[in-house]
Amino acid sequence: MIAPSILSSDFARLRDEVDEVIRAGCDWIHIDVMDGHFVPNLTLGPPIVKALRRHVQATFDVHLMVESPEHWIPAFVDAGADILTVHYEATPHVHRALQMIRESGKRAGLALNPGTSPDGLSYLLADVDLVLVMTVNPGFGGQSLVPSTLAKVAEVRRMLDEAGRQDVHVEVDGGIHAGTIRQARDAGADVFVAGSAVFDEPDRALAIESLRAALRE
Ligand code: DX5
Ligand code: ZN
Repeated sequence: MIAPSILSSDFARLRDEVDEVIRAGCDWIHIDVMDGHFVPNLTLGPPIVKALRRHVQATFDVHLMVESPEHWIPAFVDAGADILTVHYEATPHVHRALQMIRESGKRAGLALNPGTSPDGLSYLLADVDLVLVMTVNPGFGGQSLVPSTLAKVAEVRRMLDEAGRQDVHVEVDGGIHAGTIRQARDAGADVFVAGSAVFDEPDRALAIESLRAALRE
């Protein structure tokens, strides 16, 4: 699945940008929420997600790069998120945060920064619907994929498969473009976030098609 990240879109035309990638055949809309503490950047909050939700049917994949995400989960559920992903590093109560998301009837994702071991996932295998392996350090679009993260994608996929959780998505985020997407897929990812590879291109349909073509090669 291809999930364009609106971080690289023109925020002044946000609704049109989202409509365009949906028309271009993307699967999910990836929404990067940053609080200026967990990551050195500040983006958007629940009101923007809510405003978009009124016009857009697509699945909203909300990536919370915020400290203590449990404080924000209710607001993003109310705003219309479908998938909520919290960072392992962002709270001592990651299990509780995942539980809160599921109890709200939403799908729960666990994100791991490049420097984070996947070991903690072994205690959370029953509590996730998605694992997001960050392939760059979170905070900004347009960075290069950190090669060591691909082995982690494979390790996460193996842990999930061994636990009988073939249904859990493994998502990669950061530095994904036509030249890297196959490596991520071969490592075991099935959801591909792409920000600059989609929104920095004038023809978004062509950009998404070249990602799909690279997967077919
Ligand atoms: C980074 C964000 C990403 C970002 C990816 O912190 O989580 O979703 O938009 O951007 P690209 O695809 O340009 O690396
Ligand atoms: Zn993201």
